[in-house]
Amino acid sequence: MVNRRDLIKLGLYGGTAGMLHLTRLDSGVLAWALDEVKGNAPSEWKPLAAVKPFTQALPLPPVIQPVNPSQLPGVQIIPGATYYEVRIRQGTAQLLPGMPTVIWGYQGMYLGPTFEARIGETTVVRQHNDLLVNMIIHHHGGHTPGISDGAALLSQRVQPGSFKDYIYPNDDDICATHWYHDHDLDFTGHNIFMGLQGCFFLHDAVEDQLNLPGSPRDPAPQGEMPFDLPLVLQDRIFDFNNQLSYNPFGHDGCIGDHFLVNGAIQPSVRVANRKYRLRFLNGSNARFYQPSLSNGMPFHMIGSDGGLLAASTDAESFLIGPAERYEAIVDFSKLKVGSHVYLNNCMAQTDGRRPDGLSTQCTNAHPGPDGVGSLLRFDVAFSAPDPSTFTPGQTLRTDIPDFRSRKPDVTREWLFERSNGAWQINGRFYDPNRIDARVKLNTTEVWVLRNGGGGWWHPIHIHRNQFQVLKRNDQFPGPLEQGLKDVFVLEAGDTVEVITFYNGNAQVGNYVMHCHNVEHEDMRMMMRWTVS
Ligand code: C2O
Ligand code: CU
Repeated sequence: MVNRRDLIKLGLYGGTAGMLHLTRLDSGVLAWALDEVKGNAPSEWKPLAAVKPFTQALPLPPVIQPVNPSQLPGVQIIPGATYYEVRIRQGTAQLLPGMPTVIWGYQGMYLGPTFEARIGETTVVRQHNDLLVNMIIHHHGGHTPGISDGAALLSQRVQPGSFKDYIYPNDDDICATHWYHDHDLDFTGHNIFMGLQGCFFLHDAVEDQLNLPGSPRDPAPQGEMPFDLPLVLQDRIFDFNNQLSYNPFGHDGCIGDHFLVNGAIQPSVRVANRKYRLRFLNGSNARFYQPSLSNGMPFHMIGSDGGLLAASTDAESFLIGPAERYEAIVDFSKLKVGSHVYLNNCMAQTDGRRPDGLSTQCTNAHPGPDGVGSLLRFDVAFSAPDPSTFTPGQTLRTDIPDFRSRKPDVTREWLFERSNGAWQINGRFYDPNRIDARVKLNTTEVWVLRNGGGGWWHPIHIHRNQFQVLKRNDQFPGPLEQGLKDVFVLEAGDTVEVITFYNGNAQVGNYVMHCHNVEHEDMRMMMRWTVS
C-alpha cells in the first residue's frame, strides 16, 4: 500500500494526494511535515518514557450549561426542550510536559463537555463549525431522527463557518451512557483522533429510585470527583513536538502508544473509601482494552451501551472494544485511606488487525506499545459517607424492552470482509448514495453480522436503535451481552445475531451501520439504510 514515504519518493507528497491533506489539516500537518524529516517509524515517535505516570490529576469534562433559546437566532422552539450552543474549534491542551498540543474540540476542549438529559426531555444543540474542514456530529447510542443523526452522508455535513441545530428527542427506552463524536465521511478517524468526542448521559426515574452511587442525592464533597465518574479510554500517538500524529495512510486501524483517561496521560484520581459508579467509554480509534483492578477486586457490572442491565453481574475484567460502553460499581470501602489501586489493561494489541491476546504480565507497569499496563491510579485519599444503595447481583430494572421474544418480520445478513486493501460489507464498499436496506417502522428485524475472516476484528455499530444479542456463534450470549447494545464486537470468525424493534415515528430517514474501528469505517466498511 502507498504510504507517505512512497509519495515523497514519487514526488507526489505536497502534490495532489499530499495537498488534499495539507489543505485539510490546518493543525496536524505541521507535525507530519516535521515527522517526514525524521522518519515516521514507530521507534521515532515520542517515547512514552517521557511521561511520568500518575502525576496528572484525572480531568472531568464539565457538564455543559443550557442557554436561553433567544440567544439562538432562528432556532426551532420546542416546548420543554433544553437548548445548548457549542463551538467546534481548534484549541490547545497540555497533554505532555513542554509544548502544548494542538487539538480540535467541542468548545475547543480535547474532550468535549458532557451532556445530561432526562429520558423524554428534548435536547437542542446548535453546533457551530469554526474549523476549516467539514464536520458531522453524531449522537452515538441515541434514538434520533435521521436528520439529526449525524451519519456519514454528504447531506449531513456542516460546512466551515456554518452551524446546524441538532434535535434529540431522547425518547430512548431507558437511561444510558451515550456519547457524541465527529462522523465526517472519510475523515472520522482523523477528527476523532484530534479530540472531537464527548459524553452524553441519559437519566430516568428508575435510575433515580435505584439510588446508585453519584445520584443527585449523593453529591461529592467540594473539590472531589463525583461518585458517578466517566472514564474515557483513549490511545494516541505524539511526535517529538508533542503534536498528535495521525497517519492518514494507516488503514488497518490507528493503534497509539500513549494512554489517556479523560484526556490526561495515565492520570491518578483521589477517591473515597466507598462505592463509585464508573462509566467506561472506549474512545480509541481501533484499540480493544481488558480493564482489571490491581488488587483483584471485581467490577460489579451494571450497564452496557444502551443502559442498565436487568441485574448486576460480577467480572474480574471485561473486554471493551472501540465505541463500547460499560458501567460498573467499584467498592473501595474495604481499603485503607492511603492505599492505591491501579486500573490495568490486560489486552495486548500492536496493530489494527486484532488484539494479540490477554497478557499474564498485566501489572502496574508502564504500558509498552502493546498497551498492557496501568492506565489510571485510584488513590484512596479520604473517607466519605455512602448513602447509596447497591448489592452485588441485585436486580436493576425489570422494564428493559424484550426484543428477543418478538417474531422477526425481516432477517438480513451482513458479511464484513477485507477486499482490495479496504473494507466491504456484503462485497460492496460504502457508497453514501446507495441504500442497502429499507426498514419499515414498527417492525422487528434480526440482523446477522458475520465476520468474513482474515483474522480481523470488527466492532460493528448500528445507528438509531438499541439491540439485544440473540446469539453469538450459535450460543446464548454471556452476561455482559444480555442488556441493550449498539456495538457488537466481531472477533475473528464470529457470527452475532441481533434483534430490535424499530419504533419511533419521528425516527425516520437515513442511518448507517459501520465498523467502529474508525479507520475501517473511513475505508468504506459502512452501509446506508433508511427507515420509513
Ligand atoms: Cu460512534 Cu456511526 O458512530
Ligand atoms: Cu473493522
